[in-house]
Order: sequence, then structure tokens, then C-alpha cells
Amino acid sequence: MRTDSGQVINLADYRPTDFVLERVDLTFELDPTETKVESRLIFHRREGADTSAPLVLDGDELALAGLLFDQIEMAPDQYTATPESLTVRDLPESDPFELTITTIINPEANTKLMGLYRTGGIYSTQCEAEGFRRITYFPDRPDVLAPYTVNIIAEKATNPLLLSNGNFLGGAGYGEGKHFAAWFDPHPKPSYLFALVAGDLGVIEDTFTTMSGREVALKIYVEHGKEPRAGYAMDALKRSMKWDEDVFGREYDLDIFMIVAVSDFNMGAMENKGLNVFNDKYVLADPETATDADYANIEAIIAHEYFHNWTGNRITCRDWFQLCLKEGLTVYRDHEFSSDQRSRPVKRIAEVRHLKSEQFPEDGGPLAHPVRPTQYREINNFYTTTVYEKGSEVTRMIATLLGKETFKKGMDLYFERHDGQAVTIEDFVKCFEDVSGRDLAQFSLWYQQAGTPLVTASGSYDATAKTFALSLEQMIPATPGQTDKKPMHIPLSLALFAEDGAQLQPSSVTGAEYAGEILHLTDRAQTAVFHCIASRPVVSINRSFSAPIKLHFDQTAADLALLARNETDHFARWQALTDLALPTLLKAARDGHSASADRTFVEPLLAAAADDSLEPAFRAQALALPSESDIARELGGNNDPDAIHAGRQAIMKQVADAGRDVFLKLHETMLTAGDFTPDAKSAGRRALRNTALVYLSYAEASPSRAKAAFDAANNMTDLMQALTILAHRFPDSAEAADALETFRDRFADNALVIDKWFSVQATIPGAKTLDRVVELMENPLFIRTNPNRVRSLIGTFAFTNPTGIGRADGEGYRFLAREILDIDARNPQLAARLLTSMRSWRSLEPVRAEHARKALTEIQQSDKLSTDVRDIVERTLQ
Ligand code: ARG
Ligand code: ZN
Repeated sequence: MRTDSGQVINLADYRPTDFVLERVDLTFELDPTETKVESRLIFHRREGADTSAPLVLDGDELALAGLLFDQIEMAPDQYTATPESLTVRDLPESDPFELTITTIINPEANTKLMGLYRTGGIYSTQCEAEGFRRITYFPDRPDVLAPYTVNIIAEKATNPLLLSNGNFLGGAGYGEGKHFAAWFDPHPKPSYLFALVAGDLGVIEDTFTTMSGREVALKIYVEHGKEPRAGYAMDALKRSMKWDEDVFGREYDLDIFMIVAVSDFNMGAMENKGLNVFNDKYVLADPETATDADYANIEAIIAHEYFHNWTGNRITCRDWFQLCLKEGLTVYRDHEFSSDQRSRPVKRIAEVRHLKSEQFPEDGGPLAHPVRPTQYREINNFYTTTVYEKGSEVTRMIATLLGKETFKKGMDLYFERHDGQAVTIEDFVKCFEDVSGRDLAQFSLWYQQAGTPLVTASGSYDATAKTFALSLEQMIPATPGQTDKKPMHIPLSLALFAEDGAQLQPSSVTGAEYAGEILHLTDRAQTAVFHCIASRPVVSINRSFSAPIKLHFDQTAADLALLARNETDHFARWQALTDLALPTLLKAARDGHSASADRTFVEPLLAAAADDSLEPAFRAQALALPSESDIARELGGNNDPDAIHAGRQAIMKQVADAGRDVFLKLHETMLTAGDFTPDAKSAGRRALRNTALVYLSYAEASPSRAKAAFDAANNMTDLMQALTILAHRFPDSAEAADALETFRDRFADNALVIDKWFSVQATIPGAKTLDRVVELMENPLFIRTNPNRVRSLIGTFAFTNPTGIGRADGEGYRFLAREILDIDARNPQLAARLLTSMRSWRSLEPVRAEHARKALTEIQQSDKLSTDVRDIVERTLQ
């Protein structure tokens, strides 16, 4: 393991390579511990480049086993090979020239799960961002694009399947007990999109006919016996392919599209050209084992990876600083897809909840960085919610600023202008400037400035002049390395409502650009005056969450209730209900058990819950009060997780008591008829019914109803909800213990469901849960080397159990520090990701903050940290 802290890479240092790669020809002789990789690379010298420069290729834990130049063995004094690089000096004159590099690698020993690894008898690869250099020496950077030919040779009995990118060329027997297959990918690609899979897997097959009439073979590979659980993923894939044609005009470009589901995977999934590799969690589903949330995730991630084929693969990133070019844009595309497939407002509420609970804390803490960073020490640590989710929000704002049609023109231009290239954010933004004539220079600060802008608003109505003046001020907080911020271009969707709920249309607006119900806030402070407003308006600001900001706007409970009833934008209704609840929850966080709920929030909430004209899924979202971490974030400092928990519990109980009849009725009526279907409508009914069940568990203070629901459940959504209520609300009851045991016995051989069994226990509130977590780590079902399992127990505990991880004696943080050091020795990426759960430690009350600081320091002082963990721990402590 490398123990250096990693050198800093700067965006400003970008230079193109001196040598241009023309073609890649790879031959793998697969062996579990000694795989031979022969790589033939054809290069020519770049015009104008320094031809005497040595050729430097990247490596990571590699050993060179052979090097030929134009088929002739190179003399040892002509090159230097270290585990991290291969430097070839005194290159002979020929141009183009061919290098043949041989390396021997050990897939079974590769516990980092980067490069080529073998687990459970399956060879697979993960090359983004810098995994390819763990396979062979290579110019391993995204701006080096070439067509690849891949030959795979392996033992036939254990590896009937030999897959790589592109189209299948052919295969045959190969000596005793072996066979080979050849693949060719005609689309020039960077090495991070390379993939190879070999082993023995089951498959489901289908076809898709593209808009120009070509038939594409679709294959999803899963472990034998799991084929029936891949059907939903296939359905989602076909819908994604069709949607990308209909909405973005993008057609698939190979004869075959393959997805492989693997059970040991560091991330969600990977968009390798023509051969996506997925964490099986995001492929496998059936009603008995997958929740509605699982189905929605599968649909979104299948779409996400498929959409990368154009936004990421056909047009890729010039360098890793541009990661949001493909990720932010592709998240935006998958959000749009899910909104079209499901309910747009409900999807938007879920997106914003996620953004606020994950990205806002990142943006407000020590790990804050711009959507496009300008430096990094470890690129793996920049696959963040800021790059992905805030990156998506920035793309969404471009669409808002330009309008749907112009945005579409800009996308078309982007595809046309940059197909086959590795480009930058500037190239992307330029397309939208060119089609719209709008100057997006100020807008581009969204890519450059970290931190969540705070917008403060105040309004005043002049009844004589019939004008309404709205004063807006923006403040962008200081973030690491950025103290001076410029004012940003913030598009605020805004509408005015009269006391009777009707929308008011101003005759004109002065003081700010206002068009298509979008107010453009561009100065540090600005006052927009709305003319011809007949009566005092109730303002709705940042409808649909048009900009990813925090809004301070003192609105009366009566005004918020009016918006909750009348806003035509249902996202804004949800926001109004949340804004009504927040003051009570914040106060409760100080009052603890004695907290009391304000009627001004309970009544509109229960009215929405009982309103049958509203979608059930919307009502479920409204009833799901801000979480404990939402409350902690709003409080902003000196946080005591126990007090926040106690206060929120007290409020839940009061809402439950006040709404008992509503919840009883919802629980009785929100049934779904017939067989289980995972569609959004049925899922919404289940969500609302299960939310009612949660409240009833408070009102009735008894596990009986949840126990009955557990026994009656015929799908995983209902079963998990019942189990969660039993375990979280009544952890010491016999009902909870029985249900946990029954659940475990019933699903013992289903890894993804057992992950849920670990998670539900890891999230039981309270100080005692740590002992349970430690005990569960001794359970034979706990597999330390499986990332999903580690995340389900340790990750869930660290990220989503504030009273457990943050128990007052500091044992939670000490436990986490120990585990992170242990995991880091095997899998640095996984360890570093878990450590980001500590990012908000400075917002804790002083005693806990000190415990957290000590635990972080203990990690920092370890002498054998990976670059991944070192980078995170040092930034977190800074
Ligand atoms: N590009 C993948 C996706 O978002 C994620 C790959 C993450 N890889 C990593 N080393 N962090 O679809
Ligand atoms: Zn992605």
C-alpha cells in the first residue's frame, strides 16, 4: 500500500499528451492469481509536440513482464518501470510506432475492487477513474481515446462467458480446456470505459429496435437462478432507450447492449461502453424481496448508466475536473426520465429532500468543493453529491433560464459539435450561449463557487400604488480555499397569490428581469417591484426548487397555509407544509420530551393528509416530517442528537394523536387491489398507508398493529415498513425480536434482503445500538469483504443513526475510527466513503465534537493510511 499523502493535481496544469494513441489491442489470458495481459498500443507523435520527450505511462501496483518496440524487445536502459509508471526514453524515430507491454496481475488478491478483480468466481473490472492502470501501463486519462480490440482466453468450464466492450467478433476453442473470444469496440473511448467480464452467469435476453430500425440485442447477466429477478431491469432499460430517442433524439450505437450484475462492487454501477457493470442491488427485484424504493432506484440507475452512452461515452471529459460534465448532466437526464415515468412533483420533492440531506451538509462543511473542482489529491473522493446532485441542479437551471426548447437546441448542438471528443464545462456552456445569445459568464459561477447560496427575502405591499416590492439579498458562505464570493445568477421561479388563492399577474416588473415566472437575481441585493397588484399578495419563491439555495423568508403561518392549499406547483405546497413544521421541530430540539406541536402546522398537515384530490405519494411525502438530520442541519450548531430525537418523537406523538382518525382511515382505505405491481401509483398508495401505520404506532403506543401488518405483508415494502416500526419503536418487545428472527430465517440466502436486515437494526435509535452493531459484526451473515454488507451495517449506522453513532460517551466515533482503519487496509474507496459520514462533526455540541475530533485524529495518526482516507481525514479536520 502506498503511504504518501498523494500529490495535488491542479486543473490549471492541464496539458494534452505528446503522443496520440491510435489503437489498442489487448489480450488477456485469465487466471485467478496470474492473469497475463498483453497490450499493443499504436502511437504517433502529436504535431507540434516535443518529439524528444519520453513516453510516460501510468501504472498502479504493476510489474512489467515484457516490453517490445515495433515488435523488438527494448533494452533495459531504454526504459524505467516502477509499480506506478513506465517511462520509455530514447524512442526510435519510427512514427507511428507500436509498443507491446506485458504485465502479470492477480485478480483474486485485488481487494480494492479497482482494475480487474475476481470475487465469487467472476472476473470483472472497474476502471473509472484510474483503475485501468492497475491492469496495464497506459496513458490512463480521459482525453486519450482509441478503438479497442480485446481478446480473452480462459478456462472454458469455469468461464463459459467472455465479455468485453463493443461488438462480438468471434470465438473458438483454444488449446486444452480453454476457449477465447474477441471483441471490437469501434467507438474511440478512454480507458476508464474499458470492461471485461468472465465467468459463469445466467442471462435474460430481449431486443430493442432503434428509431432508425436497427435491432439491438439486450442481455442482462446475473448469477444463475436469479434470472427471474432481472425482468424489471430489462423493462427499465427498454423504456430508457425509447425515452432517450423521444426526448433527446439519441439512438444506441452498437449491435449489443449488456448489463452484468455483480455482488461485490464499490459503487452503484458503471457505464462501460456496451457493457455496463452493476451492483446487483440495482438490478435484482421481485415483489417478495424488493421495496418500492428499490424498484425506483433500479429504474433510475439503469437509465442513468444507459444515458451515459451519449453523455459520458460519445462525449467524454477532457480531465477529471470536468467530472460533472458527464455526471451532473446524466443525473439531470435520469431525473427527467423518472419524472416522466412517475409523478413529476413527487419526484421533485424526493430529489430536493435528497439534495438537502446529502449535498447541503457537504457544501456547508469541511469537504465543500465547487461542482467543478480546481484541485484534488484523490479523484475517487470527488464522486460526490456536489458533483452529481448539485451538478444536476446546475444543468436544470440552464434549462430553466433558457426554456425547454432552447435548452433542447443547446443539447442538440452539444451532441453535434462534440461527438467523439473529450471536452470541458466551458465547451458545454458555450453551446447554450450560442443557441440562446445569452451570456452565461456569471451563471458559470455555479460551477466555480462552492457553498449553498443563502437568499434572504422580504416583501412590502403598497395598497395605494398597487405595487409589491420584493427585496432579495444573496450571500454565498466561505468554503475551504474560497473566502471571497461573487454574486451569482440565481433563477427564482416565483408567483404571487391573492387571499382567495387565485394567482396574481403583475402588469410589469421593474428592478429585476422577470419573464416566464422566473425572477433573475443577479446582484448582491436587488428589489423587484411588481406593478398592478390589486391586493396584498402571498409570495411563493423558488417554486419547484428552481435554484439550489437556502431561502430565508419570514412568512406567517397563515400565508404558508394558504400556499399549502392553493399553490398550483405541488412541490411548493410541500415546501410550505415543511416550512410550517420546521419552527416547531427546531423548538422541540431544545425542549426534548416536553415539546409541543403548534396547531398552525398540524391542521394544514392533516388537511393535506385527508385530501383525496392529492396524490397519495404526495401526501406521504408531506407527512414524512423533516428528519433528525434535517433538523440538525437547520439548527446549524451545538447539536445534541438525543435532544433532537426526543423532541421530534414528542411531536410525532402529538401529530399522531391529533390525526388518529385520519390515519386509521388511510390505513383502512389505501389498499392496492390485485397482484403487486411496482408502478408509481400503487407505490404511492403503499407509501401513504405505511406512513399512516407509523403514526398509528405512536398514537396506539403498541406494537400490535405493526405485528399484524408484518404477518399480513405480501410484498417487501409492507414487510420492511412493519419490521422497521417494530424494531425502531419497540426494540425491546418480543414482537420485534420475533419479527427480526422470522425475517432473517426467511431470507437467509438472499444477500440483498439480509442487507436490509442489518440496516434496520443499525438504525434503531439510541445509545444501545452500538452494542448491537458490534454483536452483528460477529454474526456469520456479516461478510467483511462485501461492500454492500459493510455499508448496510456500518455505513447505515454511521450515516443515518445520529443517536447511535453520536452517543454521548464517544464510543460510536471510536468504533467507527477502528473499523475505518480496518477496512482501509483492504478497500480504501469504501473506507474513505464511510469516513465522509463525519463531515458535520463541528456542528455537534462541544463534548461530542471533542470525541469526534479525537476519533478523526486517531485515524489521521495511523501510519499506513491510503491516499483516499488520508485526503478525507485531513480535509475533515482542517
Ligand atoms: N460513472 C459511474 C456512475 O456514476 C460511477 C463510477 C464511480 N467510480 C469511482 N471510482 N468512484 O455511473
Ligand atoms: Zn454516472
